[in-house]
Amino acid sequence: MTKTYFVTGTDTEIGKTVATCALLQAANQCSFSTAGYKPIASGGQMTKYGLRNNDACLLQKNSSVSLRYNEVNPILFEASTCPHIISEKTGKPIEFSVMSEGLRNLQLKAEWVFIEGAGGWYTPLSVEKKYADWVILQELPVIIVIGLKLGCINHALLTVESIKYSGLDLVGWVGNEIASIMYYQVEYLKNLHRLISAPCLGLIPYHNPEFIIKLGKFIDLSLL
Ligand SMILES: Nc1ncnc2c1ncn2[C@@H]1O[C@H](COP(=O)(O)OP(=O)(O)OP(=O)(O)O)[C@@H](O)[C@H]1O
Ligand SMILES: [Mg+2]
Repeated sequence: MTKTYFVTGTDTEIGKTVATCALLQAANQCSFSTAGYKPIASGGQMTKYGLRNNDACLLQKNSSVSLRYNEVNPILFEASTCPHIISEKTGKPIEFSVMSEGLRNLQLKAEWVFIEGAGGWYTPLSVEKKYADWVILQELPVIIVIGLKLGCINHALLTVESIKYSGLDLVGWVGNEIASIMYYQVEYLKNLHRLISAPCLGLIPYHNPEFIIKLGKFIDLSLL
């Protein structure tokens, strides 16, 4: 049975894509077949192959299974903004069925699937639906990426509480050094370890984006 994890974060732009690539690489190193999934992306660039989102391209590249772009990212909006706003503006509703079918397809192809969310845990997808509602429907175990910066303890604890409230399993968290310098980082980490009962799967250091290909070693998959 495919191991499937949903990767959320304490905010947008805090390292969900970087951490999801690291998780894929860690599983690749153990010779598992892997697939990254970004069901909904907003922000696309036109290429000779069509509209592409950078997060989805990185997940495609870090998957051990060869996947077509739209298998990794079935729903893509060109504008880089909150999915429900652009969905409403373009009259293109976000269908849970499309997200679920895409996931089933990847689960047939890979032993490990890591799904990157969009924004944070309670990102809305329409007036009625939140991203979390789909994760609940799928009963997925959740990993939180914590971008290490001022305010992250509060954001992390709010996210932990909301996941618990959803009745889902929080299986781990990844600390991500989003800034080159963070004062009191040791103290922040100590508090995160103390306050979050799920295990820390790894700490991703601040790095030059070129080194995104070498992040698997910072993740301990045996904790999953
Ligand atoms: N550990 C790190 N060291 C250096 N740069 C980082 C690190 N983590 C993330 N970044 C950079 O910060 C930016 C945001 O990271 P990333 O795209 O992974 O965030 P995200 O949470 O996936 O964002 P989004 O909500 O847009 O999907 C990127 O430019 C990425 O290269
Ligand atoms: Mg991302």
